[in-house]
Amino acid sequence: MSELIQEYRQQRDADFRSLLYSGVVLRIPPSDASMRMQGRCFRRICEVLGDDPRNASRRMDGKQFFEKAGALRREFYQSDVCRAAIGDLLRLTGCDVGDHFCDPTRLRVVIEGGHHNPAAAPVYYAHRDTWYSNPQCQITWWMPLHAVSKSETFSFLPDYFDEPVGNDSAGFDYGQWTSKGTDLKIGWQDAEAGRRELYPQLREDLPPHRRIAFEAQPGEVIVFSGQHLHQTVPIEEGETRFSLDFRTVCLSDHRSGLGPVNVDNRSTGDALLGHVPVVPDGFCGSGE
Ligand SMILES: [Fe+2]
Repeated sequence: MSELIQEYRQQRDADFRSLLYSGVVLRIPPSDASMRMQGRCFRRICEVLGDDPRNASRRMDGKQFFEKAGALRREFYQSDVCRAAIGDLLRLTGCDVGDHFCDPTRLRVVIEGGHHNPAAAPVYYAHRDTWYSNPQCQITWWMPLHAVSKSETFSFLPDYFDEPVGNDSAGFDYGQWTSKGTDLKIGWQDAEAGRRELYPQLREDLPPHRRIAFEAQPGEVIVFSGQHLHQTVPIEEGETRFSLDFRTVCLSDHRSGLGPVNVDNRSTGDALLGHVPVVPDGFCGSGE
């Protein structure tokens, strides 16, 4: 594979997606759509967590912070503004919005020392997004809400993009995952879910391999195939990282069987059933 993370060069529609399906990661520069999404979401975080939200977890007790972050997470997941922004970003890359479904926006909150909390362990599992019963052609879009360094993002393990690894995805079933509602999908709604539920993870000690983390600016969007093996970088000491991500599926690509060949995903059920049209019915734009 050539350089893993490449600058976006205006590839459009099928060309854009086929590059991602080949394992390339694209960095899309800030745009009106991404900056609007970033600005609205970060301002809302400041309203709920106070000014300087990146240090809010140091000011609040753990339960209070968890509940406030969980409420934000539910709000963004259900937000028509975020959903409209997904449409804007698809249009920016020449994709037919009407031919796409999305898994709505999730707020990610990675706090200092979070990896020492057993209930939060799944946040740090190496995984492929496809292990959650997702289509092979699913694409993940990731955006930081503030500038992030390599020690605040996540790393790709690109040598395993098309190489199987040991994992426990066979225990994941989408129907079971969603049988009690949407709380597990949204996340941060049940503090004990991380100890109780199966979140698929790498189950193999890998030989020495490349790990590629990255830095990014607010409004930049990192786009990659759901087949990429990746892992959140723990923050031993430092401010909280806030980022957004969402996923899209091109329906005609899915019907045609496009996307990377499945090498090791054995999850069952179909998460596409929980995806939604990109533009909600009756919604008339994402302007301020
Ligand atoms: Fe992921």
